[in-house]
Amino acid sequence: MLTTKHISDVTLAQMLLARGELVAIPTETVYGLAANALNAEAVARIFEVKNRPTFDPLIVHTYSIEALERHAHSIPAEAYKLAEAFMPGSLTLLLPKRAHIPDIVTAGLPTVGLRIPNHALALELLHGIDFPLAAPSANPFGYISPTTAQHVRAQLGEAIPLVLDGGACVVGVESTIVGFPEGEPTIMRFGGISVEAIEKVLGRQVKTMTHSSSNPAAPGMLASHYAPRKPFYVTAVGNLPTFLQKFLAQYAPERIGVLALRGGLPALPTDCQVLLSTEGNLNEAAQKLFGAMRQLDALDVDVIIAEYVPQEGLGRAINDRLKRASLTLET
Ligand code: TXA
Ligand code: MG
Repeated sequence: MLTTKHISDVTLAQMLLARGELVAIPTETVYGLAANALNAEAVARIFEVKNRPTFDPLIVHTYSIEALERHAHSIPAEAYKLAEAFMPGSLTLLLPKRAHIPDIVTAGLPTVGLRIPNHALALELLHGIDFPLAAPSANPFGYISPTTAQHVRAQLGEAIPLVLDGGACVVGVESTIVGFPEGEPTIMRFGGISVEAIEKVLGRQVKTMTHSSSNPAAPGMLASHYAPRKPFYVTAVGNLPTFLQKFLAQYAPERIGVLALRGGLPALPTDCQVLLSTEGNLNEAAQKLFGAMRQLDALDVDVIIAEYVPQEGLGRAINDRLKRASLTLET
């Protein structure tokens, strides 16, 4: 019999993972739903629990740059530069996979997404096991990613034996994904490391190949994603007061929820408005984004309206998530 009384949660997590079970783990970006990446059956359970289509590949988590080489080969020089600058951290590199990485992890693709999370508990966990962890965000497919252990328990608690509680995620949006199609560093998903920071390290501009609703082989890029259950609409920076007028024609003021960076709407009750950073700090806004979306989704309102943030730094990742949250209505 396994008892949690005398062993730490990390040890328990290691034991569960070693025998093929799933454990929700904290990272600095969002919580992940982890399984032994080398155990195809355990990985299959991730897809089942998340209700995730198996054509959407998983990121593999490891603990050191040397460990990257164990799971990938032909690593470009610029990938090493990025790894040295940002690992551990909110960066995922897409690299040619070695044969022992099961096809179910990469959805049959020849590349594997590798990342070293910058979170003490996650690193302690990874150090104590002799296999890497496949882990997507620990939310039902298509819904908002979890940034606290409570978010995970609320949605997946029943389905998994352990949620390792590492506190609130400090970055709050998923990792930036960089691939190297034809050897060119290319951003495949905006995330916790800004484009500016990546370009600074590489000393040149990088391409971006983010949205592709028709080609799900590209990262998480089913256009609609990260979505609240309530109708969610988003408008340009500075346009929220004008946008609101449209909704006031249809809804009472107290039925409208608002998500904005700073400065609420005086025409609406304040308790239905969530502001991400009164100082306009985009890192703070990213950290609060998914929690704010969940909070609004749980409020007694009929519709949520949001405003984009400046398209710089982590603003790109925030805007990407806002846009995809708003697309559910059309798909
Ligand atoms: O911050 C993060 O990256 C979090 C934490 C838990 O590490 N994980 C995360 O996983 O966001 P997930 O599964 O929600 O999103 C990973 C995205 C997927 O949309 C997938 O399409 C893409 O990464 N991806 C993974 N491996 C890939 C590959 N070999 N080629 C292309 N895209 C890949
Ligand atoms: Mg996800």
